[in-house]
Amino acid sequence: MTLQIGFVGTGGIARAHQNHLSSLEGVTVAGFTGTRMAHSEKAAREWKDARAYESLEQMLDDRRLDAVYICVPPDSHDGLEELLIDRGIPFLVEKPLGTDLALPRRLAARIREQNLLTSVGYHWRYLDSAQKAKELLLNTKIGMSLGYWMGTMPRAPWWIVQKGSGGQFVEQTTHITDLLRYLVGEITEVYAAYSHRVMHEVVEGADVSDVGTVTMKLADGSVATISNTCLIPNYHTVGLDIYTNDGIYEIREACLKRATADTVTQYNNQTKPMYNENEAFIRALRTGDRSGILSDYEDSLKTHEVTMAANESARTGLPVTIPGNGA
Ligand SMILES: NC(=O)c1ccc[n+]([C@@H]2O[C@H](COP(=O)([O-])OP(=O)(O)OC[C@H]3O[C@@H](n4cnc5c(N)ncnc54)[C@H](O)[C@@H]3O)[C@@H](O)[C@H]2O)c1
Repeated sequence: MTLQIGFVGTGGIARAHQNHLSSLEGVTVAGFTGTRMAHSEKAAREWKDARAYESLEQMLDDRRLDAVYICVPPDSHDGLEELLIDRGIPFLVEKPLGTDLALPRRLAARIREQNLLTSVGYHWRYLDSAQKAKELLLNTKIGMSLGYWMGTMPRAPWWIVQKGSGGQFVEQTTHITDLLRYLVGEITEVYAAYSHRVMHEVVEGADVSDVGTVTMKLADGSVATISNTCLIPNYHTVGLDIYTNDGIYEIREACLKRATADTVTQYNNQTKPMYNENEAFIRALRTGDRSGILSDYEDSLKTHEVTMAANESARTGLPVTIPGNGA
């Protein structure tokens, strides 16, 4: 039986998911909806028998879908997941879960109640480098971690405004925060300092901070900082360095580098993390086996709690304890 998938959102990340879905057997995209009908129609022309719809509700009324991908800006989730939960339809949603905590917390409770199958686009977990680090770190004692997302400013209108994206730490650096949770453990307290240095003066309408650093305490007793900037002219470091008694582990999108007392070993990534993420979700839909899904809605909420707490700390100037994270 061919699985029928629907898409909400026809932007860059939706297209990336479709590229991977098109290489999987027994899957088709049957419907598209977004804010522009012309874009949905264009996307639908690329899939046999796919149709474009004015709304998610129309799409669900017209088609029997096995799952829906939600690929909308962070501030645009209102009413989407809810409709899928109402109808018991599994979904893969892109990170971050939103720009507030109330909606994701409410949705997580309903998803838990229904045991609904979900996956969240934290694709860094699916990197070979992350998987290898997870295996090797089992034999170490972790002291501290340093994370980075040092890059340029994306220019999507929703990205440059705090209301639309939640800011860089919530929208982008959430990947590194999530990776820290995945590899080291729960984050119990954060203290953040952000600033507006350049971009609000050079990009019309931009109001997100363009530098920030977040100090964290973890449940295992280790400490971390994760820093980000979007004011530099080129991409610099994006990744996580973990300092242990056995050596240093540098996790990047391309590889893992492990430096011990006398050797440096580099493990280059062989597989595509977004392919792995899509394959695991489709396999779970087909077989009910969820073990390949490395990040579901409930787990992702914990990452979102941390990045939102960082925003609160930056605003108030005070450390913030994360509820329910083993503090
Ligand atoms: N996993 C990753 O590495 C990764 C990479 C890029 C983007 N993302 C995330 O994916 C999401 C989308 O990013 P993008 O770059 O594709 O954005 P985009 O601006 O390219 O596309 C957004 C799409 O959402 C649609 N949309 C907006 N509001 C909507 C609404 N209320 N109802 C239905 N459709 C709506 C728009 O029509 C558009 O098609 C963001 O949350 C972003 O953080 C994740």
